[in-house]
Amino acid sequence: MTQIEEAKQFILSKTDNLPDIGLILGSGLGVLADDIQNPVTIPYTDIPGFPSSTVAGHKGQLVIGELEGTRVVAMQGRFHFYEGYSMDLVTFPVRVMKAAGVSTLVVTNAAGGINESFEAGDLMIIDDHINQFGTNPLIGKNDDALGVRFPDMSQAYAPELKQLAETTASEIGVALKKGVYVGNTGPSYETPAEVRMLRTLGGDAVGMSTVPEVIAAVHGGMKVLGISCISNMAAGILDQPLTHDEVMETTERVKQDFLQLVTAVVKKL
Ligand code: HPA
Repeated sequence: MTQIEEAKQFILSKTDNLPDIGLILGSGLGVLADDIQNPVTIPYTDIPGFPSSTVAGHKGQLVIGELEGTRVVAMQGRFHFYEGYSMDLVTFPVRVMKAAGVSTLVVTNAAGGINESFEAGDLMIIDDHINQFGTNPLIGKNDDALGVRFPDMSQAYAPELKQLAETTASEIGVALKKGVYVGNTGPSYETPAEVRMLRTLGGDAVGMSTVPEVIAAVHGGMKVLGISCISNMAAGILDQPLTHDEVMETTERVKQDFLQLVTAVVKKL
């Protein structure tokens, strides 16, 4: 049995079936999982093949239940490349979700704003991404059972889901930006020169996650919606140093809007 299959069977032994909507909750955004009703909670450490998450603000568990009536499986905390996990491990949960029946993946993260019209606290629909990890989770022998060798990334973020999120946001009165997410390895934040470079390259926000998971999800044929919480302006834009505390404070401040938006979008999926 493959590791993916083993993890899938373990999860399915704890719950009848997995919903077809998966959520990956980023730094400070894991609170969404606390709103899930009738939760079945599975710590990552219990799941065969899952590493354990180490970052402050990341809980490290799978929560399966209902978000205002819609069944979802949420990852409360994710695995980052900068923690030293291989790309295979970073993307393993996405593979397992897909194998267990998840077909739509909502990925969220905290990110630094590169676009100078953004402000800390903004929510941004990910229109597209730029992979700056210097590697790709699909490097190595392709598993044809998971997806094709050369997956198309021209609509990595499903146009209909972006549209749905925008419509929903205006219905519920939540302001929403849209832009290109740049995925960097971290864990050091960018230098001001790097932020200027990323702006020239077409980036609107920068973070240390999401890109690997989205590549794996698209490879596996999942539909992806990405939402960034602009937790700070990227380095050099404001005259202040960047801290993880600021990231956590901002996500805490905007979590109501974030929760409302994700919940309303999920209801329509
Ligand atoms: N840079 C990279 N990752 C981040 C940032 C940032 O400014 N803010 C939150 N995650």
